[in-house]
Amino acid sequence: MTKIEMFTGKGGVGKTTMSVATALKYAQSGKTLLISTDPSGSISEIFGRPLDQGLTEVGENLDAVELTRAQVLALWRSKFGDEMYAVISSFLPVGPEIIDYIEGAPGIEEEFMLDYLLTKAQSNLYQTIVWDTAPTATTLNMLCIQQLFYTHLTQAQKIYLKVKGVFSQVDPLSLINSWRDLTAQIITMLKTDTTAWVVANPERLPVEQALNIAASLSDFGIGVNGFILNKTLPPELCSCHPFWQAKYDSQQRWRQRMLQGAGSRKVKEISELSGEMQALGVLAEVAELLQQS
Ligand SMILES: Nc1ncnc2c1ncn2[C@@H]1O[C@H](COP(=O)(O)OP(=O)(O)O)[C@@H](O)[C@H]1O
Ligand SMILES: [Mg+2]
Repeated sequence: MTKIEMFTGKGGVGKTTMSVATALKYAQSGKTLLISTDPSGSISEIFGRPLDQGLTEVGENLDAVELTRAQVLALWRSKFGDEMYAVISSFLPVGPEIIDYIEGAPGIEEEFMLDYLLTKAQSNLYQTIVWDTAPTATTLNMLCIQQLFYTHLTQAQKIYLKVKGVFSQVDPLSLINSWRDLTAQIITMLKTDTTAWVVANPERLPVEQALNIAASLSDFGIGVNGFILNKTLPPELCSCHPFWQAKYDSQQRWRQRMLQGAGSRKVKEISELSGEMQALGVLAEVAELLQQS
């Protein structure tokens, strides 16, 4: 089974940078897919081509895609749209546009983003999938929704069995069951094939959020590889000016908090770099630094 490595953390901490660096590294030894589910994703800029229209080969052994709402909902329609309409229209006087409304329901987009990930993981085309996620809250919601969906669909099945007589020509049970089965597979994929790196900068909010998200991921059942503490200022630079010295001292306090909160978990450290960070050469260097730290 394909291994999935996710990068999570507060906005702007370096998730995309670390994801691309890691994907470049993995592509050296096996077929790799880089998926971004961050709506403000920037992998298109990094690879210098639009990646929001579908999966694209961006290098040897490396495919990439920026999953947009439009792509995800199109997938949902082709998979469940017709069946969903058949079920609803069998007992309500509605037209096909009802599907437009259902599409906007909470959880549908997240469910199918994860379904996309599942399909790619099950295709067995890739050794590793590197997943650049949306900032903390969105990603955690995505995971919570899976559990909620599963519970709701189990309830829906019971309710259906009570009101069976309403449905004359169609069988909603098969729809409920296939959806429930999909959710169960997604939960298994997250719990058994997925591990996470939590990225932070040495500042209060990124560090506190990183520690919280690591705890939430663990509670959910996703293995946490460790933390990446990114953008620490180099000490030799900071001793030259009181402003930078104060900044350095503050960073060091949050670094200590991170190390203490991480306990036995690994903390990789990457300093603030001066190069053109979006350049693939610089990202390959970041990959080496990640490897070494
Ligand atoms: N170690 C670093 N040194 C200097 N700039 C960095 C470093 N890591 C990331 N950046 C820059 O910080 C910004 C935010 O990084 P990004 O990876 O897009 O964060 P996220 O995906 O978490 O929002 C980008 O401009 C990126 O190039
Ligand atoms: Mg990003």
